[in-house]
Amino acid sequence: MTDEPGGGAGAERLILLLVGAVGAGKGTQAGILSRELGLVHLASGNLFRAALAAGTPLGEEAREYMERGELVPDELTIAMFMEELARPAARAGAILDGFPRTVGQAKALDETLAANGERIRAVLYIEVPTEALVRRVAGRWVCPQCGTPYHEDTDPPKVPGRCDLDGTELRQRDDDRPEVVRARLEKQVPPMLEVVDHYERAGIVHRLDGMQPIEAVTDDILAAIHSRAGG
Ligand code: AP5
Ligand code: MG
Repeated sequence: MTDEPGGGAGAERLILLLVGAVGAGKGTQAGILSRELGLVHLASGNLFRAALAAGTPLGEEAREYMERGELVPDELTIAMFMEELARPAARAGAILDGFPRTVGQAKALDETLAANGERIRAVLYIEVPTEALVRRVAGRWVCPQCGTPYHEDTDPPKVPGRCDLDGTELRQRDDDRPEVVRARLEKQVPPMLEVVDHYERAGIVHRLDGMQPIEAVTDDILAAIHSRAGG
């Protein structure tokens, strides 16, 4: 067993969970950490948006919930996510962004991992006050190709309107309309807090000040992960 990111064959995978409300910075940090640690970034929201764009039955089913700012039902979400976690891309480990988001999902994930002798190594809870969240989401632009988020003030792309990684034209998300953002906050924060409580019991939650600049949040996350090395 090794705690090194991207550990070799037979090593326990490094599985990290990023938790935070709408716009807390999960996707931003997951993208950076995935490049830094060589782990796949699995984001349930991005997976649903990709299914929706591809017009699959899963995407169609998810659409109605996403448009109302509600959570997609557990049975759809768990099946989709477990499939991704079992792919070869996740062999070294994964950064989980947006899943699990209910205690039901958390228990399903814990059981699947335990069956392989695995577990979530650390839960990184990015805390940001609600007023700041609404402002952040209003200025967000996202790459429809790779899902990388940008912000027009705090994290602009190098070439205006284009993704730094693949040059695709950036878009605003359909569910970032103010009324949907309010619904997402109202409906999704309470179950998220229950997930945090669930993992607090296992003593693996790190609370991070998400109001700091992006690089400072990354530094805190890396320090938290390394404080767990060997644990
Ligand atoms: P999802 O796509 O996961 O949306 P979300 O949780 O609401 O989170 P966001 O992606 O909006 O925010 P983020 O934390 O990734 O922030 P970001 O890094 O972009 O889910 C969408 C929908 O899918 C859900 O509403 C639900 O319907 C469904 N769904 C998904 N998962 C599900 C599940 N498990 N179960 C059931 N349903 C599910 O940052 C936001 C902005 O802030 C950006 O512009 C960024 O540049 C900027 N920023 C980031 N960090 C900083 C910083 N430190 N300082 C200043 N600006 C910053
Ligand atoms: Mg995101």
